[in-house]
Amino acid sequence: MINLQDIRYVRLGTRDLEGAIDYATKILGLQLVSREGKSAYFRSDKVEVRGDTRDHTLVYFEGDPNDHTIGFDLKDPADFDTVGAALDNAGYRATAANKEACELRRAKGVLQSMDPTGNKIEIVARPYHSGPRYFPGRDAGITHFSHIGLNSTDTIRDEKFWTNICNARVSDWLGDAPLLRISTCHHSIAMFPSTVPGVQHINHQVEDIDDVMKSYYFLKEKGVKIAWGPGRHPLSTAVMVYFYGPDNMVYEYSCGVKHISAEDEKTYRPRQFPSTLTSFCMWGSIPDFPSMQSAMEPAKPSLKAV
Ligand SMILES: [Fe+2]
Repeated sequence: MINLQDIRYVRLGTRDLEGAIDYATKILGLQLVSREGKSAYFRSDKVEVRGDTRDHTLVYFEGDPNDHTIGFDLKDPADFDTVGAALDNAGYRATAANKEACELRRAKGVLQSMDPTGNKIEIVARPYHSGPRYFPGRDAGITHFSHIGLNSTDTIRDEKFWTNICNARVSDWLGDAPLLRISTCHHSIAMFPSTVPGVQHINHQVEDIDDVMKSYYFLKEKGVKIAWGPGRHPLSTAVMVYFYGPDNMVYEYSCGVKHISAEDEKTYRPRQFPSTLTSFCMWGSIPDFPSMQSAMEPAKPSLKAV
């Protein structure tokens, strides 16, 4: 079993690095912490909310916009030497990154592999933390990078990868797609059916509902296309708004996500929800992005009329 601590970062390729930096700092509200060669690093964590400040939580690099990688850190870095064997034994190839690649990931050790869908994952040991506090150029109220939507070509198979080989737990199911927790947060990975690998959306938590709504109006005023919301997810109870970023990546702000504490773990049972609109948004907001729409069964006419 690979004991993950939390999701750590997302790395995204882009053909327009300058445009992505502009968006991440002026629209999304992240802090540009460094540029190295053809990569830009962004920070998002408020130490008083998360308890620590990750060196970075998002990287844009010059490359293929379909090239997405998700980083996770280990509960105990001493486990690092056993992670490769755990993946190998389960039939997944794992490669230890060389020193240069580790330095680019700001970690002492990096193991690179893929989930069954072909999503690129990296498991890092002793990732760097930041001394200086998070200080973004735009006050979007971001407190930390929290979760991703992750494409899956077979959600039942991929759930087994994350829960049997890694220590992820199912918090709830939407249809056949699991929402998986790694830390106490209701989900670090929300799985979505797809025909291709990739990150489906990237979530940052914001302080409160005022931040969600302020950003909704800010984004509209800036001409950023809203992808979904404002609305509320009944499964995690989070109030959210989704919007488009560079290369059609969808970003999300949300607040109030449910946490499942160590005490709750003793009795928590995942719930099954149908994949209908009211399971996705209890306020009835309809998503305007194809991968979310295709995950959803069409609303029945009688339901619409209620
Ligand atoms: Fe989300």
